[in-house]
Amino acid sequence: MTIVQPNDLQNTPSTALQDLPLLEVRSISKFYGARRGCENVSFDLYPGEVLAIVGESGSGKSTLLNCISTRMLPTSGLVNYRMRDGSVQDVCHMQEADKRFLMRTDWGFVHQNSADGLRMTVSAGANVGERLMAVGHRHYGSIRSTATDWLEQVEISEDRIDDQPRDFSGGMRQRLQIARNLVTGPRLVFMDEPTGGLDVSVQARLLDLLRNLVSNLGLAAIVVTHDLAVARLLSHRMIVMKDGHVIEEGLTDRVLDDPQAPYTQLLISSILQV
Ligand SMILES: Nc1ncnc2c1ncn2[C@@H]1O[C@H](COP(=O)(O)OP(=O)(O)OP(=O)(O)O)[C@@H](O)[C@H]1O
Ligand SMILES: [Mg+2]
Repeated sequence: MTIVQPNDLQNTPSTALQDLPLLEVRSISKFYGARRGCENVSFDLYPGEVLAIVGESGSGKSTLLNCISTRMLPTSGLVNYRMRDGSVQDVCHMQEADKRFLMRTDWGFVHQNSADGLRMTVSAGANVGERLMAVGHRHYGSIRSTATDWLEQVEISEDRIDDQPRDFSGGMRQRLQIARNLVTGPRLVFMDEPTGGLDVSVQARLLDLLRNLVSNLGLAAIVVTHDLAVARLLSHRMIVMKDGHVIEEGLTDRVLDDPQAPYTQLLISSILQV
């Protein structure tokens, strides 16, 4: 697969940006000393597409996600991202300031542990408003009203806007994290076990909300999960990892209903037996 360079784009005026990959992950490997985190992972992600990365604990899911989202420098490989202006950038090797800007604007990251994604001792409204201020919004009234809108979209009632997330339940914190991430209108959201550690009923509500938001906003997303039900509900496509390698990939329904690799078959049957 050739990597599209900005110059090529100018030669293909009839190709809509929507038809070109948003993200091209090429041969990403990450070693922690001699220990393999992930090795030689490649895939494309298209606008509006949701990809699940599944696999047992230690299979390299978070390592891969952290490399793709520039939170960690891979040992080798590259990640090309198509910016809003159509140009393509190798995000792993961008300047730190440019990475941070991308993270604040066009990208979101929903952490499993909400304390990693929220400021626990400032109000819910400020958690959402802060992202808006980071992209240049200055008018207090409009920041507050946008924050209120977003809290409503994630089903947090307006009268909690001045409360701090440390006083919220686990499910509410995750919903607040989602609002904080989506308020700047990102095109790509990374999620690492977004429903991990929550009660089953809380998980179901959060998944339902996420699925609706992602589809209504046409977001592209990469969701790391060890829960195949989460992959089934949220993703169009999935990759299965084991020991840092991709064992199988394909459309989610195909992989789950007709797994080809013996490891995927085992993973699915062992989950179904639980
Ligand atoms: N900071 C680190 N230093 C050394 N080894 C690490 C580090 N982080 C991860 N690893 C190793 O890399 C491999 C992949 O770990 P990773 O955390 O990416 O897996 P995972 O699939 O996200 O697991 P989990 O489902 O438990 O979160 C494991 O062998 C792990 O021990
Ligand atoms: Mg992990």
